[in-house]
Amino acid sequence: PEESSVTADGVLSIGGVPVTTLAERYGTPLHVIDETGLRRQIRRFVDGLQRRWPNAEVLFASKSLPVVGMYRVAQEEGMSVDIAGGGELRLALAAGVAPERLHFHGNAKTDAELQMALDAGIGTIIVDNCDELDRLERLLTRPQKLLLRVIPGVDADTHASQATGGERSKFGLPMRQAHAAIERMRAHPFMEFEGVHLHIGSQILNTRQFAEAVEKISSAGTFDTYDVGGGLGVKYTYDEEAPSVEAYLDAIVAAARDHLPASARLMIEPGRSVVARAGITLYRVISVKRTGDVFVAVDGGMADQLDVALTHQRYEAVIADRLDEAWTERVQLVGRQCESGDLLVDGADFPAARVGDLVAMATTGAYAYTMANNYNGALKPAIVFVREGEARLVARRETYDDLLALHAPAAL
Ligand code: LLP
Repeated sequence: PEESSVTADGVLSIGGVPVTTLAERYGTPLHVIDETGLRRQIRRFVDGLQRRWPNAEVLFASKSLPVVGMYRVAQEEGMSVDIAGGGELRLALAAGVAPERLHFHGNAKTDAELQMALDAGIGTIIVDNCDELDRLERLLTRPQKLLLRVIPGVDADTHASQATGGERSKFGLPMRQAHAAIERMRAHPFMEFEGVHLHIGSQILNTRQFAEAVEKISSAGTFDTYDVGGGLGVKYTYDEEAPSVEAYLDAIVAAARDHLPASARLMIEPGRSVVARAGITLYRVISVKRTGDVFVAVDGGMADQLDVALTHQRYEAVIADRLDEAWTERVQLVGRQCESGDLLVDGADFPAARVGDLVAMATTGAYAYTMANNYNGALKPAIVFVREGEARLVARRETYDDLLALHAPAAL
């Protein structure tokens, strides 16, 4: 995180709070967000895009960190919000996000979710398919702003499960089918069709691909609004480089100047590049096993850091309470879930690890908390935001009672 430092006795400090204090106060595994750095990053997107293209809107892709405290920060710093279902809708509304600033995505929205969104006075619905148009025809009783998600035909250079803009994507309609859907919306009295949406994927490190998507979407027609999605990749490991926010904005705005109407509204929806680098996860070392390999096992794992298994995302980790000590061994940092794929870092350089050490894994602000699950009875970790020496709990740790509460009383 931007606001990190090391105390005189070698302890990592985030937002002015030593991680030892955070671990004692809130327990581990614990997600920690540097709120100052996070707010600064949001302003880079919001001010940066509006300076380059005044008729612009930046949406927070809230699937990356759907937490009430995060929705609030996003809105306070000038972002609108992208939600992808009834759950994120409820959280965003609970955070006080203005309904007209919500944009509802998804390739399989149910009647119940669409009704919830309409009742809330949702700003924009991004239509994915013709069955959704059937549903909206039945449900709409007053004018509703709509965008249509189209497939730009850009195969993003990223993990296959994170690429969403290729010809065979399950999201959106191919250009050749988009025109009929647009005609249908334009003919309907309550459908206010405003333009098109695309999203080519996530963790994309080549800005040229965003420019290509803007160029491709311009062939869909001339509209009031073009939402060109999220997807900017971030630097996870020392050996990796990622484009700056500014280089990314330069690339899409240059393409927009070349290919989109000058009066159009331009929208982007970053998630990962907003929150990933503001976050770390703290774990406690439970076991150190030296068998030829050195296995350092911690009190969390793929249940709270699923993308190590899902996309084989690589991370860096440190022993956060002994940063003043030299590295002496290369270890396998492993989790406690019952799978060999539960490998948090394949080759971390540590001082001789000991039971009780505090491990910090970096760049975990996005797609960690949100994909946490109860595999092996794991409990969802707590999240704290830290800022100027103060920590505040924004989501408490799940408890065993929370797990039991889901089960039929008769079975207990
Ligand atoms: N807009 C739409 C319609 C999206 O589907 C997504 C992400 C975004 C925006 C934000 O993309 P970002 O700026 O965060 O790359 N579970 C995966 C990540 C899935 C991303 C899903 N869609 C992972 O852990 O890597």
